[in-house]
Amino acid sequence: MSRDFEFKALLRAYRSGIISEQTFETEIRELENGGHAVNGNGSGGFRAFGKTYQTERAAVVSFLDKVRAGEANGGEAFAAWAEVCTTDCIRTGLRVVAEREAYHSRVFAQRLAELGGEQRAMTTEEGRKFTAYLGDRRVPDNEKLLKFVERVGKPEDAIKPICEFAELLKEDLGTKEALRLFAEDELSTAKWLYESCAALNAPKAESAKENEKRASM
Ligand SMILES: [Fe+2]
Repeated sequence: MSRDFEFKALLRAYRSGIISEQTFETEIRELENGGHAVNGNGSGGFRAFGKTYQTERAAVVSFLDKVRAGEANGGEAFAAWAEVCTTDCIRTGLRVVAEREAYHSRVFAQRLAELGGEQRAMTTEEGRKFTAYLGDRRVPDNEKLLKFVERVGKPEDAIKPICEFAELLKEDLGTKEALRLFAEDELSTAKWLYESCAALNAPKAESAKENEKRASM
């Protein structure tokens, strides 16, 4: 992997919550110091998300555990939002998203158990705050959509860490294939939220522009 590629992969992994701020900083420092970033599938361990794991399996176990915890929190967050959602046209869609997140968590927990991994990852403080925010009935739906879009970024970029990781897997083809489907689901969810955000915020943005125009006349 080139340094530039490694830096971008690290940044994406950090932004999507797969690695902590501390790991991100440590890895960046290592990169700056000319740290070796060869993806050593084989003798040198398995390199993913700016970390070197002893084996591909260890990387898979760690990934599945974090995603399992993150998706479970996502499921709760979107279910909570659906409960307080006042916009008829997105409420049922939010339930679809909540179910997707929850089943991802269940499937990955099952795969983790098959691999003999333990459930160690917990919901992060940020994740907890996000759930509380989405479940807050005082915050309007269009604002929640804006916040989500700001947090997740472009849908295609948001799923890159999953695709890149799946691409690296050479032994665990079962997880690799599941991750391809996971990425498609996440892309679909992110696109739908992106489009809903644009639709629910567009009239406001336009009228604000009109008001500005009128004010400048
Ligand atoms: Fe998700």
